[in-house]
Amino acid sequence: MTASTLTIKDLHVEIEGKEIVKGFNLEISGGEIHAIMGPNGTGKSTLASAIMGHPSYEITKGSVSLDGEDVLEMEVDERARAGMFLAMQYPSEVTGVTTSDFLRTAINAHREEGDEIPLMKFIKKMDKNMETLDMNEQFSTRYLNEGFSGGEKKRNEILQLLMLEPKIAILDEIDSGLDIDALKVVSNGINNMRGESFGCLIITHYQRLLNYITPDHVHVMMQGRIVKSGDASLAQRLEAEGYDWIKEELGIEDERVGQEA
Ligand SMILES: Nc1ncnc2c1ncn2[C@@H]1O[C@H](COP(=O)(O)OP(=O)(O)OP(=O)(O)O)[C@@H](O)[C@H]1O
Ligand SMILES: [Mg+2]
Repeated sequence: MTASTLTIKDLHVEIEGKEIVKGFNLEISGGEIHAIMGPNGTGKSTLASAIMGHPSYEITKGSVSLDGEDVLEMEVDERARAGMFLAMQYPSEVTGVTTSDFLRTAINAHREEGDEIPLMKFIKKMDKNMETLDMNEQFSTRYLNEGFSGGEKKRNEILQLLMLEPKIAILDEIDSGLDIDALKVVSNGINNMRGESFGCLIITHYQRLLNYITPDHVHVMMQGRIVKSGDASLAQRLEAEGYDWIKEELGIEDERVGQEA
């Protein structure tokens, strides 16, 4: 597989008439891991959901393209088929659909009719990836995320990542709620995906995750856009000093978005 590039240009996103993302620019190519950090309520999850086509978010300006194809013109399932993947900050529970059925359907949706993944091949791949993630096999027959603990849901998101092998993944707080061992396991899963055909955007609050997954680029989001970019050392500085120095440097008083009356 060849490397893909996701290009986000001057993106503006509104929710209920309020502008939350205000001129976001970023290019993510295969082989690259980008991290976005930023205080609460600065538009990170809104950005992720809007790129993946969440219907509540209205894109009022700007463009998103994958290898030159207009992503904003694609339906949500087309975005997934084109190789885009989102692990959500709060994964939803789906009653009546087992994890295993969900994954098989999702994989087959990426393949041509008549070229469905053979059952044995699917089971092998699933077993291997569940082992990598240190997941008990009972999860494959449980309803998707139903009654899963916070950490189990996050592992399950990474299981989807490993099974679907997207070209570009956006992982929103994949580390929140993980215990120390699970953090290593999940990082290991993401590191297994690293390579020329995989580009990744990791949204996180903690440098801790980035100790395991070294990002090529770190960006800080405030007021709905990237206000600072650097290499992995930027995340270390944020961990040590917080965000005040950036706000001072840039003369930002309130970093949040959507707080206006
Ligand atoms: N569906 C919605 N309805 C109303 N307001 C919303 C909605 N989605 C997002 N917002 C508002 O947009 C702002 C940015 O939210 P968002 O979830 O993007 O922040 P975030 O940077 O991901 O924060 P966190 O670090 O806490 O996850 C917040 O003020 C939030 O309340
Ligand atoms: Mg968020």
